[in-house]
Amino acid sequence: MSITVRTFDAVIVGAGGAGLRAAIQLSESGFKTAVLTKVFPTRSHTVAAQGGVAASLGNSEEDHWHWHMYDTVKGSDWLGDQDAIEFMCRKANECVIELEHYGMPFDRTDQGKIYQRPFGGHMSNFGEKPVRRSCAAADRTGHAMLHAMYQRNVKANTQFFVEWMALDLMRDADGEVLGVTAMDMETGEIAVFHAKATIFATGGAGRIFHSSTNAFINTGDGLGMAARAGIPLEDMEFWQFHPTGVAGAGVLITEGVRGEGGILRNAQGEPFMARYAPVAKDLASRDVVSRAMVTEINEGRGCGPHKDFVLLDITHLEPAIIMKRLPGIREIAIQFAGVDPIKEQIPVVPTCHYQMGGIPTNYHGQVVVPQGDIKAVVVPGFYAAGECACASVHGANRLGTNSLLDLLVFGKSAGETAVEELKKSSRAHKPLPQSEIDRSLARVDRLNTQKDGANVHATRLAMQRTMQNHCGVFRFADKLKDGVQKILEVEKDVCRVEIADKSKVFNTARVEALELENLIEVAVATMTSAEARKESRGAHVRDDAPDTEQHPNGRDDGNWLRHTLWYKDGNRLDYKAVKLTPLTVDTIALKKRAY
Ligand code: FUM
Repeated sequence: MSITVRTFDAVIVGAGGAGLRAAIQLSESGFKTAVLTKVFPTRSHTVAAQGGVAASLGNSEEDHWHWHMYDTVKGSDWLGDQDAIEFMCRKANECVIELEHYGMPFDRTDQGKIYQRPFGGHMSNFGEKPVRRSCAAADRTGHAMLHAMYQRNVKANTQFFVEWMALDLMRDADGEVLGVTAMDMETGEIAVFHAKATIFATGGAGRIFHSSTNAFINTGDGLGMAARAGIPLEDMEFWQFHPTGVAGAGVLITEGVRGEGGILRNAQGEPFMARYAPVAKDLASRDVVSRAMVTEINEGRGCGPHKDFVLLDITHLEPAIIMKRLPGIREIAIQFAGVDPIKEQIPVVPTCHYQMGGIPTNYHGQVVVPQGDIKAVVVPGFYAAGECACASVHGANRLGTNSLLDLLVFGKSAGETAVEELKKSSRAHKPLPQSEIDRSLARVDRLNTQKDGANVHATRLAMQRTMQNHCGVFRFADKLKDGVQKILEVEKDVCRVEIADKSKVFNTARVEALELENLIEVAVATMTSAEARKESRGAHVRDDAPDTEQHPNGRDDGNWLRHTLWYKDGNRLDYKAVKLTPLTVDTIALKKRAY
């Protein structure tokens, strides 16, 4: 089969915040840059980020990057790498101001400064009280951000390949990354995007769960491609369940609602968070709030006929504030819950939202993997940023609004590093190994020829139910063990999924099957890593690792203060040390986590 080869200096997979930010860096430096995206850039999942982007601008009250760093390390339950966290928190103000200069329409204070609201786990003075750190454009911050950065890219002549799905990473015998194979989703044409720098910004994989705030496009494509190319996935056991997904619908209700004064109530009308987090209350970090909600439900204080949700109350807020600061939320509540939050409370449940783990990178955006006795080596030509990457700044639990910050800081950083590397190397593109192209074509070919295979929809559902039932907000040793067996059974079906009636299918059926092959890598990595981690930390809380004096919060720092690395080959695990030494300040010392 003949295959078109398109040659670029850099190819970026994904046109959400991280991809767009990296592309600005490359295109504005004069490098020929392609961005491949399954959807039109401004429809990428960053569009769903509502409440804001964290930066210690201090526009409404005193704030400091060091306090932000402290909160992020504490939020991560000390699993975050402190060098990368310091880097991100120090860069935050610069990146947000840059965005303002790109034309981002932030809300304004009366003094004309960027409007900031409080968010969970963000505190002043090393954990004293909630602080206004989230820079917001009403409740459509991600949406506004995508438009600002897309326009900047158009000006810089970035070449967008819209409705193109990347299929596989191409590496040569030295392990260097030389680009990707990709499919035009409309025509089915397959092409090679040959590049000296390849940046993955493919977002998350929240669709491994049945109930998710994630878009249908969030299928872990970058993680699947990396895993198949021999790159390990880091800390995949840590998944964030956002406290406020609309019950029964999964659609996100921003934490910014609680930032504006919203209160969670149980069936008795009690504002129960004070019992779980006496200082921060509804603005405790997400893992804490989600567990509190599930505990209320499990103990019979849930609402509705099945007592299976709690209520988010903003009826005490001025309607004008709701209309100004939370207009999108009102719309979502009316459309998806059938309630007008000006007058009624919104039914909410914790819903899968974000993966803390991903493709291992350093804070320069380079993909790094352990090799032999050498601690970590950079994979030449390969970068990752945003939710698909693990820098690792979120550790075991991410703070709200640090996601938009992560994609800005590390999107820029990956772009900058790629620019430096491209400037250093004047050599021509390395030759493409035919075997890599053939490996990718064989995957598509199998789908075109598979007979008597498994049904894509049923197999995806089996995967999502397994993940939801065996690897949720609270985790149980026996369910995790069982879950590993079950997900490996589902994996066997994924290897033999079939597209029904191949002569008539649109490429969407083929795309769904290819996406499922990526999702299953993430699901297996998640279940295997979660079963193996025999402690509670951040979002990973096990029944057999309770909070004791010896193990505060159920953490076992002696044995488990380390990152997990999952390898597809042999479903194998390895571990690496957490970086506890920041760049310029003292280590933020381990302690019990309370809000
Ligand atoms: O609640 C939210 O607005 C989500 C923000 C985030 O996940 O960072």
